[in-house]
Amino acid sequence: MAETTEPTGTTGTAGTAGAIRPPGPEGGPVTSGTAPGAAGGPTAADGPAPSAGRAPADALPKGFRSAELGWPELKRIPHPPYRIPLLGDLLGASRRTPLQDSLRYAAELGPIFRRKVFGREFVFVGGAALAADLADETRFAKHVGLGIANLRPVVGDALFTAYNHEPNWQLAHDVLAPGFSREAMAAYHPMMLDVARRLTGHWDRELAAGRAVDVPGDMTKLTLETIARTGFGHDFGSFERTRPHPFVTAMVGTLTYAQRLNTVPSPALLRRASRRNEADIAHLDHTVDELVRARRANGGGDGDLLDRMLDTAHPVTGERLSAQNVRRQVVTFLVAGHETTSGALSFALHYLARDPRVAARARAEVDRVWGDTAMPGYEQVAKLRYVRRVLDEALRLWPTAPAFAREARADTVLGGEHPMRRGGWALVLTAMLHRDPGTWGPDPERFDPDRFDAAAVRARAPHTYKPFGTGARACIGRQFALHEATLVLGLLLRRYELRPDPAYRLRVTERLTLMPEGLRLHLERRRTPVGGAPLGEERTGERRIGEGPVEAVGEEPTASSSEPRCPVRRSGD
Ligand code: HEM
Repeated sequence: MAETTEPTGTTGTAGTAGAIRPPGPEGGPVTSGTAPGAAGGPTAADGPAPSAGRAPADALPKGFRSAELGWPELKRIPHPPYRIPLLGDLLGASRRTPLQDSLRYAAELGPIFRRKVFGREFVFVGGAALAADLADETRFAKHVGLGIANLRPVVGDALFTAYNHEPNWQLAHDVLAPGFSREAMAAYHPMMLDVARRLTGHWDRELAAGRAVDVPGDMTKLTLETIARTGFGHDFGSFERTRPHPFVTAMVGTLTYAQRLNTVPSPALLRRASRRNEADIAHLDHTVDELVRARRANGGGDGDLLDRMLDTAHPVTGERLSAQNVRRQVVTFLVAGHETTSGALSFALHYLARDPRVAARARAEVDRVWGDTAMPGYEQVAKLRYVRRVLDEALRLWPTAPAFAREARADTVLGGEHPMRRGGWALVLTAMLHRDPGTWGPDPERFDPDRFDAAAVRARAPHTYKPFGTGARACIGRQFALHEATLVLGLLLRRYELRPDPAYRLRVTERLTLMPEGLRLHLERRRTPVGGAPLGEERTGERRIGEGPVEAVGEEPTASSSEPRCPVRRSGD
């Protein structure tokens, strides 16, 4: 495979008040081990060269870097037994469930281990102490490799897939971060309610027809419509369709293809799939081009993300996103903005349906906090502390973006024990980190939202809960996702009793993100009157349930409204 040079570390292009600028490369010496394993020339996954085209002099080679290049004492890191020459650790592994395989290996091999597949070796980290060390932004940065690099032909240097040094990362981050400010979120709230109304309309019809609801399918429709509407003023009409929108089909196709690339010795083996992937990419691009054309034709929207992308200049440099970069950002946000949240909602609904006591407690909170308000306000969502804990706990067990990769900015020693060369990298398996018994106790598989009550959160070490990644490249849409998901869970709990299929056993599908497979729930309309009115039809003359005292929990402090607020900077990062 061919490669060009890839610098490590991050340099920003512009300095803005409140903007996050990841530290630049620390300039550690390029040890002999970093370069040779990397064969030259750009890979398909690399996409066009960064616009700057000038890689820093101390640039690292681009493309896949096998673990032996970055870990001089790799031999000390355990690997699964029965390694087969050429094939590696394939015995007992499934192409479809790499994450769940890794969780099994982690249980046997401990907080750090390696796996080799077709000559390519990876290091996995899931122990809390090592993961916390990898969260040190002065020594480590995001590594764009594996599945993420495989998405570069689709979205190039957009926010999620940009290499740290690419100027468009900082530019887009600074231009788009205000789109996730408190003010922006409050403006999205009525649109979120509107989309939720379409979901409950659909669920009411399914219920009336005596059908169980398709939870992952419907959550995907909901979250796609929400990001499309709030971000881009677009309506995919998902609830009016019997089959997924072609955009969703194309998106799932590209995600699946990106994952498959990791599991075959050569992309040449996926020739047919590769042709389909190209068609999928063309469809995604076409959808976005239409969207942008319509926006231009209408003379602009109401200040949503697309307006920002098209019209907002960087506050300091005055730079704007190029047309090509806007296209990449729109696809990124449409994909990243719904796929993970729909999984989070689906897992949460699964656990709520399975545990009537948790559901009853959450429902009681919704009744107490929202009363009969048909349209809960923006501020009333954050008051659903227990519902939020249910969501947090669902994301602990099944962080729907199940891993993120970190690379050393300079030669260092991980956890004081494992030497790493500059550019060496590891995958943090979040689902494994979230099951570390040292943090979560002897029964980490147990679903227990009280793990997120104020005292428990305060007592935990930093960097032990990372569903949204870490550092400067953590999720920009975190608040968006949490607000949307808490709102929707509150609305559904208030309206329905959730009845699981007793025969259903949780199976998790993996396609870069996680989703409960085949989850269907039976619904009953709640007999209690609270919240029984359809959304938007506030009842009058009935008892209003007062807003009871809200439990104070260990929320991370929010910035004062006058402070520039960057949604990706979290306490503990
Ligand atoms: C429960 C829902 C979500 C989860 C679990 C999640 C998880 C993550 C994680 C783990 C990362 C870091 C990836 C890495 O380090 O390689 C990330 C980044 C990102 N997420 Fe999310 N995400 C969610 C929702 C959203 C939403 C709703 C949006 C947009 C509206 C979004 C947009 C992004 C973007 C653009 C990035 C890249 C940020 C950067 O590198 O600057 N995500 N997300």
